[in-house]
Amino acid sequence: MSMPPDDRAGLSRRDLLKSAALAGAALGASGVFSPAVAESATAGAHPDLAPVSPAGAKSMKGVPFEKRDVVRIAIVGTGLRGRSVLHEFLGCPGVKITALCDNVPDKAKQAAKMVTDAGQPAPALFTDGDHAFEQLVQRDDIDFIHTATPWEWHVPVMLAAMKAGKHVSSECPFGSTLKQLWELVDASEKTRRHCLQLENCNYGYNEMLVNRMVHAGVFGEPLHGAAAYLHDLRGILFEDRDEGLWRRRWHTTNNANLYPTHGLGPVSWYLDIHKGDTFEYMVSMSTEERGLSIHREETVKDKMSAKWSERYVTGDLNSSLIKTAKGRTILLQHDVSNPRPYSRLNAIQGTKGLFEDYPARIYVEGQAGGERWGAIDAWKPKFEDPLWTKLGEQARNGGHGGMDFVMAWRLVQCLREGLAPDIDVYDSAAWSAPLPLSEISVAKGSAPVKFPDFTRGNWKA
Ligand SMILES: NC(=O)c1ccc[n+]([C@@H]2O[C@H](COP(=O)([O-])OP(=O)(O)OC[C@H]3O[C@@H](n4cnc5c(N)ncnc54)[C@H](O)[C@@H]3O)[C@@H](O)[C@H]2O)c1
Repeated sequence: MSMPPDDRAGLSRRDLLKSAALAGAALGASGVFSPAVAESATAGAHPDLAPVSPAGAKSMKGVPFEKRDVVRIAIVGTGLRGRSVLHEFLGCPGVKITALCDNVPDKAKQAAKMVTDAGQPAPALFTDGDHAFEQLVQRDDIDFIHTATPWEWHVPVMLAAMKAGKHVSSECPFGSTLKQLWELVDASEKTRRHCLQLENCNYGYNEMLVNRMVHAGVFGEPLHGAAAYLHDLRGILFEDRDEGLWRRRWHTTNNANLYPTHGLGPVSWYLDIHKGDTFEYMVSMSTEERGLSIHREETVKDKMSAKWSERYVTGDLNSSLIKTAKGRTILLQHDVSNPRPYSRLNAIQGTKGLFEDYPARIYVEGQAGGERWGAIDAWKPKFEDPLWTKLGEQARNGGHGGMDFVMAWRLVQCLREGLAPDIDVYDSAAWSAPLPLSEISVAKGSAPVKFPDFTRGNWKA
């Protein structure tokens, strides 16, 4: 598989170079961090933090989709995730799958069979090479395109889709460099097409329940959230198929939090990011790399394997702290290289209590039993999200405990009823920004790095 034209490693390195002045300012001559210096120096020192807004650009915040009875959807990348999302879309009323694309024809055919098995006409297939999506986006029978390709293709597919007049979404990460994230924001504003990350974890049962509890004031004033992607992917990363064919390569190029959004998306909703608050800056540090090297030693017995020519640079556990404009803090972690049970942390602490997930538990000041964790069950009748009350039974038969179906159903509802999407281009860009920002901070001795304001001041509304 060739790399897309603007290859991510090259851009990342450019980001790093541009960040030199920024981080140099943050770490004073003595090597000691001076917040005041960092604050004033960062915005101008890194061109990708605040590029000039293209003339005439208008915000996409709150812009509704056009109303339509039937949503015509195309999917680019019909591997494991593409087919899983396809399954969810096929379960939604008012969806027609019109086109599919994968550079491996067999993957596209497997997906096409799912469509015809569901009683829909055979979709058009685009399988001729890495750039076949450029033909797909030109069709006039597509309203919305979802891309579930390897990460390096998300941005080229989304830019091509918007240019051809289609609304579009991707999996995580939305983009992997600040430059790419700005390109997506600017293209969305220019083309007036929505461009978003379909973040399934925002639609998890616990996440939606807790979001309602936070906004009802159960935990008091929110102070701190915790978000993570802690998932032992060693086996998957070393397979000779699916993600094993491309995902491990990122561990040879970026020492960063490679996958920030599953945890950060829901916590951003708890904290009203871009609805009165915004990420201001972050600091990040990584452990040494160990997990993948040890796994290779233990499992890749053939020393002639190409896997032995790889050098892993992603520190196993990356920990970042984000400060928001309102003074709230977020712990953000990433580790896919060590043995451990799955966790996205998913926690929120307020002035009256807190919620922590994995396992889900709650403490609200004054609750029966004293300072001990309580179960969340008692809160469900009052705070269960109406989407889960309506869709729960059907959703639980789908992917990731049901969140994938709720996500797909809700997107389709927005598209059919002419509502603004729940997640917009600004949210999506900000949730993925910790990938390049953590890389910059780690490379500069955990220097604080300012977040770009992708909303260009519109986050206060
Ligand atoms: N949201 C979630 O819970 C979740 C879960 C798993 C994966 N993902 C994300 O989904 C994406 C895909 O992951 P996956 O597990 O399905 O991987 P995968 O390798 O199974 O699928 C990727 C597919 O994209 C195809 N492809 C590669 N280059 C292409 C191109 N230029 N044009 C068209 N198709 C191309 C591959 O042939 C493959 O079929 C990734 O971004 C991953 O992070 C998200």
